[in-house]
Amino acid sequence: MNAVASQAVQDSVLLIEQVEPHRKQEIARVQACAVWGLEAALISVEADVANGMPTFSVVGLPDTAVSEARERVRAAVRNSGFEFPLRRIVVNLAPAERRKEGTGFDLAIALAILRASGQLKTNVDGLCLGELSLDGTLRPIRGVMLRVLHARDHGIRSALLPAENAPEAAALGCDSIPLSSLSEAVEHLDRRVRIPPAPIPAAAGDPEYEVDLADIAGQETPKRALEIAAAGGHNLLLIGPPGTGKTMLARAFPSILPPLEPDEVLAVSSIHSVAGLTDPHRPLLTARPFRSPHHTASRLALVGGGVPPRPGEVSLAHGGALFLDEVAEFPTRVLETLREPLEEGAITISRAGSVATYPARFTLIAAQNPCPCGRSGDPEAQCECLPDAIARYRARVSGPVLDRIDMRVGVPRISYKQIGDHRPRERSTEVRRRVVRARAAMRERFHGTPRRCNAEMTKREVEKYCELDGRTEDLFSAAVTASRMSARGYHRVLRVARTVADLSGEERITYEHVALALLLRGQM
Ligand SMILES: Nc1ncnc2c1ncn2[C@@H]1O[C@H](COP(=O)(O)OP(=O)(O)O)[C@@H](O)[C@H]1O
Ligand SMILES: [Mg+2]
Ligand SMILES: [Zn+2]
Repeated sequence: MNAVASQAVQDSVLLIEQVEPHRKQEIARVQACAVWGLEAALISVEADVANGMPTFSVVGLPDTAVSEARERVRAAVRNSGFEFPLRRIVVNLAPAERRKEGTGFDLAIALAILRASGQLKTNVDGLCLGELSLDGTLRPIRGVMLRVLHARDHGIRSALLPAENAPEAAALGCDSIPLSSLSEAVEHLDRRVRIPPAPIPAAAGDPEYEVDLADIAGQETPKRALEIAAAGGHNLLLIGPPGTGKTMLARAFPSILPPLEPDEVLAVSSIHSVAGLTDPHRPLLTARPFRSPHHTASRLALVGGGVPPRPGEVSLAHGGALFLDEVAEFPTRVLETLREPLEEGAITISRAGSVATYPARFTLIAAQNPCPCGRSGDPEAQCECLPDAIARYRARVSGPVLDRIDMRVGVPRISYKQIGDHRPRERSTEVRRRVVRARAAMRERFHGTPRRCNAEMTKREVEKYCELDGRTEDLFSAAVTASRMSARGYHRVLRVARTVADLSGEERITYEHVALALLLRGQM
């Protein structure tokens, strides 16, 4: 509190002491934390309980939230066996200027009132978070991880939390007391019962993967493309008739992704916490996320938003992959919204009066049939689509998304012989080993920059790290001319070629690396 404010408090105490010398006036303070998007700020919840007409006002919440918070706190206090003071109660969520989002302040408000009215005997240290039900039980809130991280940066290392949220805070090394209700909080604070801090959750082991690359017969080129996408973060479109394993291939992608880097774990886990998706048994994510929204998903679900705002699928995929199956079925205006995250690695959501930015840097994996009937290009079936219909079908994806696709790979129908071939296939763990090694080379290359993989290289970095020898340069310039490739396409091929070289552990990009990158780019 600043000097002026603290003088004002002292003055009001003096004033009250003059009017009512028998009653010692007290302002109780409880520490809470607010989040807007992924930005957090400490909030001091101050309660002043004075004699006068019974009123209860809350300052610092949006108008719509005030009355709801008041009703919850009033009922919770009464239903927990305490008295709701019939006096003049003012609660201030300081700093009051900025309206806070969410319902996580109930516990702090209730404890501040109980402290100011003398029903709680002890001062409240540490962070207090939680929503109250009318009966006084505590409900979990979203975004605990972000708040605890912020409090920790400000030297607060203990917290009173709803039991469901406690592991999230404990995982960050915070002394977190898991609580089921308001009365339990008071009993713990007044030391009538001692509730031990939540144990630090065990680190997550290797997850069970849904599909292993070894489960998939044939499809060597799409598998190679997945490996390159995993290593370099390049966007990939799989095109093929129904039933050839496109969905299966994409579902194998998480099994070859490198684990999150230690410095990514908190950023990625916090986004999931803000979305309310934290698993209490595994609050810290170590595997890269893989999100696969259905084509009926709303624009809001995909990019985020709402009141209070939640991150969407593009942000939940941050650090990992976003899989759009049957991508042509997504409405164009939904696909359009992917432009910003694909370009910026972040998404800005603006709503009445406030703007929230969420990170959204992901590898896009998309799957599509070649035409509406799915049989175009299939040697064993007859496509019935008119050329116009095929062109329109493909154009639906092309505008916003195809331009940012680095590899466009056919997934053909495989022969009966290939399916029956039971020779051992390469397992995901082996592929993943190459991916991890290639990422290590990238980490060294981009040391001191925010970039993590080749797909993120700037044009200048492409020029620096993707030098070609004479023969390769010739091949490449012939291909660029023949396909009338754009400058953007030109850089994309070189980035992919850099990843192909990294996967084979080579410093220099060779003719073969560029040839493969060109092949995987397909006809765009
Ligand atoms: N290459 C393959 N190897 C093994 N099983 C396959 C393969 N392709 C398809 N299948 C089988 O066919 C099913 C349908 O494949 P799916 O991935 O859904 O095809 P698509 O998405 O291309 O329509 C899979 O669940 C799998 O059982
Ligand atoms: Mg499919
Ligand atoms: Zn067709």
